[in-house]
Amino acid sequence: MRSHLLNGLTAEHYRSSVTEGVERVAAKLATTDRPFTGVTVDALTPRVDAIDLDRPLGDTAAVLDELEDVYLKDAVYFHHPRYLAHLNCPVVIPAVLGEAVLSAVNSSLDTWDQSAGGTLIERKLIDWTTGRIGLGPAADGVFTSGGTQSNLQALLLAREEAKTDSPAKLRIFASEVSHFSVKKSAKLLGLGQEAVVTVPVDHDKRLQTVALARELERCRQGGLVPMAVVATAGTTDFGSIDPLPEIAELCAQYGVWMHVDAAYGCGLLASLKHRDRLTGIERADSVTVDYHKSFFQPVSSSAVLVKDAATLRHATYHAEYLNPRRMVQERIPNQVDKSLQTTRRFDALKLWMTLRVMGADGIGELFDEVCDLAAEGWKLLAADPRYDVVVEPTLSTLVFRYIPAAVTDPAEIDRANLYARKALFASGDAVVAGTKVGGRHYLKFTLLNPETTPADIAAVLDLIAGHAEQYLGESLDRAS
Ligand SMILES: Cc1ncc(COP(=O)(O)O)c(C=O)c1O
Repeated sequence: MRSHLLNGLTAEHYRSSVTEGVERVAAKLATTDRPFTGVTVDALTPRVDAIDLDRPLGDTAAVLDELEDVYLKDAVYFHHPRYLAHLNCPVVIPAVLGEAVLSAVNSSLDTWDQSAGGTLIERKLIDWTTGRIGLGPAADGVFTSGGTQSNLQALLLAREEAKTDSPAKLRIFASEVSHFSVKKSAKLLGLGQEAVVTVPVDHDKRLQTVALARELERCRQGGLVPMAVVATAGTTDFGSIDPLPEIAELCAQYGVWMHVDAAYGCGLLASLKHRDRLTGIERADSVTVDYHKSFFQPVSSSAVLVKDAATLRHATYHAEYLNPRRMVQERIPNQVDKSLQTTRRFDALKLWMTLRVMGADGIGELFDEVCDLAAEGWKLLAADPRYDVVVEPTLSTLVFRYIPAAVTDPAEIDRANLYARKALFASGDAVVAGTKVGGRHYLKFTLLNPETTPADIAAVLDLIAGHAEQYLGESLDRAS
């Protein structure tokens, strides 16, 4: 069994095994003609269930054959131009190479003595990101597992910085289309769901600052304590960016922590054309960025950044066996002192490889392309009488609904849109997402693939219309 341990003696086995795996994936990517096969849960479950984990195959080739059957064949492929659903990006090759290196070396970024250079690489990337945001010389941060954890950590720091001895009085303000991790964080932080005050959005799905000002004032008048305002720079559904400068003003006026959830919009930090859309982000106390959304990085790759490095102390605990207090005096850089995690992947390496091979402009160019594609898609939708489209995109999402001329019942239109999404998924021809707007069912394209063309968008709109029409036709038959 020792032949399976990766070490100097097994370097050749490592090389051939990994190459075999890479060959399979490369072949798969080259021949995948649809983003999904449409496999059902019922069809796939018995194939996975049939595998006896206590009877190993022992041989890499055999295991890869088996993997083909239970995973690779039917996986949902984000690199395909007609995968248009969630906030998943196709990944850049330098980052995938980074992933291979980091799992083989397997550094853990909690302490210097488990990482060495990895720690410095992560720190340099954090400084690079805070520099791009403009958070100032005292800024710092740490890589996390994703936007959910970054938001949680930011709100933890905000809670600790808030001036109250009564957590029940704390209030967080976020727009009605902010990410659900804000409410989840409030719950995890012991604040409860009522701690999150939902602020309405305007027609463009941006937080209404007049309403925010009113709520902040109401909070203060009511003897409650405003703990944080969460501004979203790139809402999950609409890609809308809240008015950051105005929100920053209100936060300064009320002495509230400003958190910017830029999990999605962070790609603009590298943009050559649209960086100005993030103006105001530099005034944040904390920022969430998800490189695994708009920097074309494999999952996971995210960070939480703070304007004042000292605030990260709220996540610091010392353990004698790991990061004793004296190491701080000795200036030993232990990233665990800033993190909610202990053992932690060297995800930063993927971004490092990306920046060193492609440069930030390379990433920005790709992100600009998908934003431009969304603008094209919006024109298509706005000109198409079959569809109602919600807002002109700021980033790369389009939310729309099929509206047949002959049908006026909104519930029936809901069902037609729901059916179309399901039927499309089952066909595997394309994958789109769905959401609700004003209580009605809408469909959503999240465009993160520069290989997707306006022709793809037009073709998928035709497919959706075809499925919806089929549903409505069958529905008429059922009624008659
Ligand atoms: C605006 C926003 N914030 C946070 C998150 C959560 O990020 P993650 O899925 O990486 O935890 C998302 C995910 O879609 C998001 O869109």
